[in-house]
Amino acid sequence: MSSKLFTSSLISETTKFNGNIKWQSPSNIALVKYWGKFGVQLPKNPSLSFGLSEAYTQTSIRFSSKKSAHAKHNFFFEGKENPAFGAKIFQFLDDLDVVFPFLKQLDLWIESENSFPHSAGIASSASSMSALALCLCSIEQELIGSLKLDTDFYTKASYVARLGSGSASRSVYGGYSVWGEFTELTESSNNFAVPFMYDIHPLFMQLRDSILIVNADEKTVSSRAGHALMDIHPYAEARIAQSKQNLSWLMAALQQGDNDRFIEVVENEAMSLHALMMSSKPWYSLMHPNTLLILKAIREFRERSGLFVCFTLDAGPNVHLIYHQDDENSVLQFIENKLIDFCYDRNIIHDRIGFGPKRLD
Ligand code: PMV
Repeated sequence: MSSKLFTSSLISETTKFNGNIKWQSPSNIALVKYWGKFGVQLPKNPSLSFGLSEAYTQTSIRFSSKKSAHAKHNFFFEGKENPAFGAKIFQFLDDLDVVFPFLKQLDLWIESENSFPHSAGIASSASSMSALALCLCSIEQELIGSLKLDTDFYTKASYVARLGSGSASRSVYGGYSVWGEFTELTESSNNFAVPFMYDIHPLFMQLRDSILIVNADEKTVSSRAGHALMDIHPYAEARIAQSKQNLSWLMAALQQGDNDRFIEVVENEAMSLHALMMSSKPWYSLMHPNTLLILKAIREFRERSGLFVCFTLDAGPNVHLIYHQDDENSVLQFIENKLIDFCYDRNIIHDRIGFGPKRLD
């Protein structure tokens, strides 16, 4: 991939322009987890996720030639000006000076909203940063015309999303995607994610993900701080090796329709992520007592029913319950009977594997 893709140019000052771009982009859930980074938001290990369907951000950008010496950027979240989010977004835009030099020539009105409540305990950085990156790439294509090819467009969107939040790099594709260099996937890169859609078994193209909200409070330790603790973690090298072995097994399981291997890898990844937090210096844990009660109930239900049900965890207490579409009725019954009382306010978001971002304007 030519590194020229990751720069752009200014627009002729004599041309006046304006337009409106809108994208919807989903959150994603990692099955092999990215944990630890180096350099400018580069991953210490490769990760694999699938994009969700119902949990997404919609972002629109209205742009026009700047009216004064300094371009004016405005940010509205869910209909209101939001100075805290705005400050982060403006800093991010400033940092993109080399990637999109033309941004300093444009006044921007950015509006963003999530399909899920702010307090649902779902990380919104993947969906919001990928939606913003897609909008910025569409502006480049409209004003400069340098992202005509779909591969160029999505590679650049993934690269830009990554600069905002590592896991956001994987949200620009539907289905499965991989971020981080991995010898068994030659096109993989630390700079951007790539789609992983070769011969995926049909069973794994229809996965359900019911997100059991155990606690919706803001995390006590941010992912940023968690990644940083991996710099001095005694198990860091072993973790990198483990993630590569798990990725290799999971890619094969997805292609072969191997339920047992899928469960083994995905649950091992979730528990390893939380074990790394507990064995960091200083240690911490983002689990809630109910998280463990849910995990135990899932294992017992799987043993009793013989069904494909397993869990993964993000960097937080909420549980993603993963199952096949065909088993939906039995699993929803199980949730109602055994799990719902462990959820905060009986709160569950029923989601599924999704088919990627959509342009809406
Ligand atoms: O993208 P960040 O910096 O919010 O880190 C995300 C880390 C995990 O969600 C725990 C794992 C992952 O790969 O998404």
